Amino acid sequence: MIKKDIPFAVEIYYSSEELNESDSELLEQARAITQQAYAPYSNFRVGAAAILANGTIVTATNQENASYPVGICAERVLLSAIASQYGTAAIITMAISYDNLKGESKSPISPCGICRQSLAEYEDRTHQPIKIILAGLKGEVYIIEKANYLLPLSFTAVDMK
Ligand code: THU
Repeated sequence: MIKKDIPFAVEIYYSSEELNESDSELLEQARAITQQAYAPYSNFRVGAAAILANGTIVTATNQENASYPVGICAERVLLSAIASQYGTAAIITMAISYDNLKGESKSPISPCGICRQSLAEYEDRTHQPIKIILAGLKGEVYIIEKANYLLPLSFTAVDMK
């Protein structure tokens, strides 16, 4: 038996003011688009913004439904929009923010399990690591070099061969 650690690094910034211009701009877009979320059940508005290899920025929000499981997270709305409109374009960076109408929005949130699976496969499809920026409307910012790090030992198409 061997024991293996699977570590990954998270860069932690005190605030978005420490980010470079392009990361800061993307995070601001994710923060702003939270206001377009359709989240009348959770009152938890999530915004995601991605910059593509050609410099285009695309944004999305969570979309809920009275039949709760029908709701879709902002991250997967964004991946679907990009794949549909831009032919599965490579994503360089994705920023994710939120506005919690019932509380504070000052610490980073991280994608749910289903979104991690979707992000990992999008990276595989495009052969492009997606840098992930996580933050609330204010406060600390986390940066992770690639989405795959969030889902170690993941199930992929290779496993079905
Ligand atoms: N949600 C997202 O859109 N992204 C996340 O990373 C976490 C959760 C949404 C799903 C649901 O509409 C609401 O936030 C509360 O879970």
